[in-house]
Amino acid sequence: MSFDQYHEPPEELSAEVRTFARMILSLIEEAQAIDWYEQRMHVEQDEDAKAIMTNAQQEEFKHFAMDLEFLLRKKPKWKKVVQKVLFQPGDIVENGEIAEKSIDE
Ligand SMILES: [Fe+2]
Repeated sequence: MSFDQYHEPPEELSAEVRTFARMILSLIEEAQAIDWYEQRMHVEQDEDAKAIMTNAQQEEFKHFAMDLEFLLRKKPKWKKVVQKVLFQPGDIVENGEIAEKSIDE
């Protein structure tokens, strides 16, 4: 069993923090899966195989979204920043700066 996701002794972390760490790792893994399917689809020549990969990548979109939603519910300040960046019109970097400045408002 690997405990590589922890940067502090696991026995010193609360159950809530260990769950948070697991979900962060899950989020990373879902993003990595989305990337891997993207690359595989790009090089795959067999249309049936590509269709299966496309379907699988779409599953990973859902997994990523659920992981992110779980984490955002646990971290209101993170959610606040995300709400000011995601699905917002305009310049992404400017929205990020505005979001960062509003964290403690
Ligand atoms: Fe997944």
